[in-house]
Amino acid sequence: MTSKALRFDQWEPEIDERATAILAQMTLEEKVGQMTQLSKYWRGDLVSAIREGRVGSLLSLTDVYEVNRLQRIAVEESRLGIPLMIGNDVIHGYRTIFPIPLAESCTWDPDLLERAARVGANEAAANGTHWNFAPMVDICRDPRWGRIAEGAGEDPFLGSVVAQARVRGFQSADLVGGRRVVACVKHYAAYGAAESGKDYNTVDISERTLRDVYLPPFKAAFDAGAGSVMTAFHELSGVPATANSFILRQVLRDEWNFTGIVLSDYDAIAELIFHGFATDHKEATLKSVLAGVDMDMMGYAYSVHLVDLVREGQVPESLIDEAVRRILIIKFQLGLFDAPYTDETLAQDLILCEDHRAMALDVAQKSMVLLKNEDNLLPLSAAHKRIAVIGPLVQNQHDLLGCWRCVGEDQDAETVLDGIRTVLPEETALLYVPACEIEGPELDITGAVNAALAADVAILVLGESMEMNGEAHSRAHMGLPGRQQELLEAVWATGTPVVVVLMSGRPLVIPWLAEHIPAILQAWHGGIRAGRAIADILFGVVNPSGKLTTSFPRAEGQIPVYYAHKNTGRPADAAGIVQFTEAYRSRYLDEPNAPLYPFGYGLSYTTFEYSDLVVETPQVGGDKNLVVSVTLTNTGERAGDEIVQLYVQDLMGSVTRPVKELKGFRRVSLTPGQRAYVRFEIPVSQLGFHGLDMEYRVEPGDFNVWIGPNSVEGLKGTFKIL
Ligand code: NOJ
Repeated sequence: MTSKALRFDQWEPEIDERATAILAQMTLEEKVGQMTQLSKYWRGDLVSAIREGRVGSLLSLTDVYEVNRLQRIAVEESRLGIPLMIGNDVIHGYRTIFPIPLAESCTWDPDLLERAARVGANEAAANGTHWNFAPMVDICRDPRWGRIAEGAGEDPFLGSVVAQARVRGFQSADLVGGRRVVACVKHYAAYGAAESGKDYNTVDISERTLRDVYLPPFKAAFDAGAGSVMTAFHELSGVPATANSFILRQVLRDEWNFTGIVLSDYDAIAELIFHGFATDHKEATLKSVLAGVDMDMMGYAYSVHLVDLVREGQVPESLIDEAVRRILIIKFQLGLFDAPYTDETLAQDLILCEDHRAMALDVAQKSMVLLKNEDNLLPLSAAHKRIAVIGPLVQNQHDLLGCWRCVGEDQDAETVLDGIRTVLPEETALLYVPACEIEGPELDITGAVNAALAADVAILVLGESMEMNGEAHSRAHMGLPGRQQELLEAVWATGTPVVVVLMSGRPLVIPWLAEHIPAILQAWHGGIRAGRAIADILFGVVNPSGKLTTSFPRAEGQIPVYYAHKNTGRPADAAGIVQFTEAYRSRYLDEPNAPLYPFGYGLSYTTFEYSDLVVETPQVGGDKNLVVSVTLTNTGERAGDEIVQLYVQDLMGSVTRPVKELKGFRRVSLTPGQRAYVRFEIPVSQLGFHGLDMEYRVEPGDFNVWIGPNSVEGLKGTFKIL
């Protein structure tokens, strides 16, 4: 059950009055102090800065005693006693680490993700965090980008649903001890469209793509009541995001009426100088504040220059007042003026408690995606008496946690070997050989091959380290790192059946595996319970149900490869086009266009049949609901969950439309032989796009609709919007 969530876009009039009263007493220096966020690593005297009202927020402070000590200085020793707001990156858990967000999105289970986010918020709140720098809602279609691990994949519809779930979870109304947390949606905007997948790189996209693909998850998060947003490091079509008044003022404030705080990313204001957009820190400060940045993360710009800029008349004080008012209002909404301190005993029964660990296991199990299972090699059974378990990630704790682990600790993680030992009977012999490091030069081929030869089946646990993902960790080569491919080929050559468990923070490029290895489980970096979840799936305790939220490329040269592409004038597979010859089509000479595994794809140990697609509204008005239904039957021998997906295609528009767009999905649990009638009611108002005039519109005309198991397969129908 999900619970009530706070909305930070609504507050009592009394809060306005209290904020106004404080604002009236503040000096300009104190106002700028509220607009300054410092880190515990700040180079100056933090205590004096707090006492003198020169700081409004701190980041990366996780020791609750230290939080309370500094808060006491703010509240009891500064002139106006304005409490500090403590911000942290609780991206996929605080101490109880869940699967990385990309993996979490593969659950396609917003209720579960809301509850998982609440676990993180609860543990963080119990340790003095008030502000969570999450959810990261950047749509990403380029897996070279290391930060793809932090988001919900390639699709704006799914990304929006997940963004809302996470915001509700982080901003839960019933956190421990009455504490509250405000979400900070990031990185505004289109940071995930970095050219060539290099982090911090230039983004140059059309305004329509920005509005149709990259902005929807932000808007969705604000619609769910998110109280703050973080700018991004990159430049967006010529103007750095941190000084981009088009996105920060026109879209955010004027069009969306966003009332919350705009926080810069880490020192991003100073980086305007490197962008070639400001000559020095003072000009960077001027441009950011005028563009609409309320708070400077790291404080090297606003704290030094903003007072002077106001005194010189370059920045109106009214602008400062607006920013400070927003900050004060959020502090009031968080309850910090009335309850500034965190009860230091709150955390003890909460951190890593059984409920949290159980939820981390549930999410891990549902996030893993079975990519291949030839001849039902999986699940493995007790008939396998000798099992070789090979690879650098078998006994690994560190990398399971993934990038952005907050205060997560390696020792909390159950390894794959631990997990397998737990689920197997004692008499099963496990032949464990690490064989190589993730990246290192050493390789024990003989040990691995001998183990495989002596075993009935070999499980190889391969993939990336956590350091290969996340901020500033992009990769140009996305195969198995180090000597793992060599290891795999040697073990495969023994003829012993091979199962590969892949751990990574991105889709890897694995065409050889897809061709030769009979069973592949994409396990991502699955958090502290990953080892157990993997064992449960491999040995059939649990039926896999995750589906991909990012396409797996066949080759790096295909990138970006995503399902919602345009058709082009010369589509690779269109029949009946006569005006050009077969060769002159939009495709590669040396690879198919299709990805290796498409968006929405994932197998189960049971089978599902889709039948009886009915478009109940073959002609539908723009203000009505499209209603489409299907019958889903579990035709296999195990209970299982299927993620039923609905896609549409607008066949002709005043602007060209993608070949498919996800517009609905549902996770359905069925026992063997059981049937479900799955019915979607989708507001036609959600089937639009931004037209030539950049206004959102839904155009009348013909559409295709599919309901199916992924973005490639499915039953097809048609409808017309009147
Ligand atoms: C920089 C990252 O881009 C951002 O995501 C994070 O929230 C801040 N650092 C603070 O850690």
